[in-house]
Amino acid sequence: MEYAHAPVLLDEVTGILEPRAQGKYFDGTLGGGGHSEKILERSEPDGALLGLDWDEEALAAAEQKLARFGARAILRRGNFRDAGAALSEIGWDRVNGAVLDLGISSRHIDAPERGFSFQADGPLDMRMDRRRPVDAATIVNTYPVAELARILRDYGEEPRARRIAAAIDQERRRGRIETTKALAELVARAVGGKRGHLHPATKTFQALRIAVNGELENLEAFLEKGYELLRPRGRLAIISFHSLEDRMVKQAFRKWSRSCLCPPRTPVCRCGWSQKVNLLTPRPRVPSAAEVERNPRARSAKLRAVERL
Ligand SMILES: C[S@@+](CC[C@H](N)C(=O)[O-])C[C@H]1O[C@@H](n2cnc3c(N)ncnc32)[C@H](O)[C@@H]1O
Repeated sequence: MEYAHAPVLLDEVTGILEPRAQGKYFDGTLGGGGHSEKILERSEPDGALLGLDWDEEALAAAEQKLARFGARAILRRGNFRDAGAALSEIGWDRVNGAVLDLGISSRHIDAPERGFSFQADGPLDMRMDRRRPVDAATIVNTYPVAELARILRDYGEEPRARRIAAAIDQERRRGRIETTKALAELVARAVGGKRGHLHPATKTFQALRIAVNGELENLEAFLEKGYELLRPRGRLAIISFHSLEDRMVKQAFRKWSRSCLCPPRTPVCRCGWSQKVNLLTPRPRVPSAAEVERNPRARSAKLRAVERL
């Protein structure tokens, strides 16, 4: 299974991680294995990489793509929030470089049966890891209307969250909403046709996807102590695709780079914190116009990176 699109910000990620022989690397979002492939190529002949993906189909695609690297590529099904445990399981302490390329992949969007796309009809699923207990149909058909509105507002930044939640509620009283198409049409009817070039259900689908997969919770858990994965001078690069994630990454990296977390004007430091990293990207890196032209998924990507002290 090949990915339709090239990995986002590929040269920028390898430029930051500077993979080299004997290095150890971590990719928490393998997807089709594009970033990992480049890291393994650049760290020849004996650099090694631990790659995780919680989606078994993505893992299978990555295994195929990275098979030629043999034992240098160690691939596992898992959640990147458990990165530390995954490293210990294979006897690694810390790594020279780590990358997260957040969110869903183009393959998720391109597979109607996974339920991520409102362009094609499919079941309302949206689970990247199909072992997760809650799918999009459960949220849409069973969550209280106020909770639905909160999800749409908080995760989709959807200004018409209440109106959409009310329309969903009205519809589901008549019968379960089972398909992506039914939901997309219902949202379009509730808020009126297209605005600009975005489909009116874009934000609703984003919000549900984030809720179904606990995306912000996973990122938050990773950002709590993600710097601990890195050796001294080890580097971490994170690519995010919407402002909620980018804000979390920005704030965590800022915190990690501060030497003290005491409130301003505290006479004597009491926080016990010490600086963990240097910021490599005071401003996020974004794809070139040429990359966005080639790969529209790159459009909203932002890359931030740090280096462990
Ligand atoms: C944007 S794609 C990665 C593409 C990849 N960098 C490449 O070059 O092909 C994101 C991948 O991360 C996975 N993913 C998202 N959140 C995850 C998590 N918390 N733990 C593990 N994998 C996750 C998704 O299943 C998806 O395959």
